[in-house]
Amino acid sequence: MNIGFLASHGGSNMQAIIDAAKKGTLHARPVVVISNNSGSTALERARNEGIPGFYLSGKTHPDPDRLDEAILNTLLAYSVDIVALAGYMKKLGPKTLARYKGRVLNIHPALLPEHGGKGMYGIHVHESVIAARETESGVTIHLVNDEYDRGPIIAQVRVPVKPDDTPEVLAARVLIEEHKLYPATLERIVTGEINLDDF
Ligand code: GRF
Repeated sequence: MNIGFLASHGGSNMQAIIDAAKKGTLHARPVVVISNNSGSTALERARNEGIPGFYLSGKTHPDPDRLDEAILNTLLAYSVDIVALAGYMKKLGPKTLARYKGRVLNIHPALLPEHGGKGMYGIHVHESVIAARETESGVTIHLVNDEYDRGPIIAQVRVPVKPDDTPEVLAARVLIEEHKLYPATLERIVTGEINLDDF
């Protein structure tokens, strides 16, 4: 199984998946990284790992249709089977979504369907969880469709929210679980324990 990543910033989830593949706990190959941010740590990580990295954005491709095609062609050129969004801040275009329907995963740092949707990214997610006085948050891995954070949920793990948590403290606790759940879920897909066609 060849994995292609789309990441905008740090790419720590991407790194966790690459590390799992290197350790042999994930039987899949990270083959390409695409970022809309030329200075992203995600692209730097790709360089460090010897994985081809591409900067594709509204700046390199001002026409959204051309950008969509460039992303799709890059994924196809590296024979990507599964697309893993890892902190990707843009929506995928219709051509990429159609060709990779049911094969694009995203990770969200809360228990969807709560605390998701437009504007719910980064620290805002954890602020929302704390403002709602939740006693539990978590991590969700879901399939991507054309609505933010609304695709079928394929895996979740719960994380406690403590009374004196700040959004930053909660984010750090959740991120530790993200780094476990994403590679573990991909491995369950590799072994067939999770069949993406069921969703
Ligand atoms: C993670 O919290 C993930 O759940 C969300 O964006 C963040 C990405 O972090 N979608 P990183 O780039 O993987 O470090």
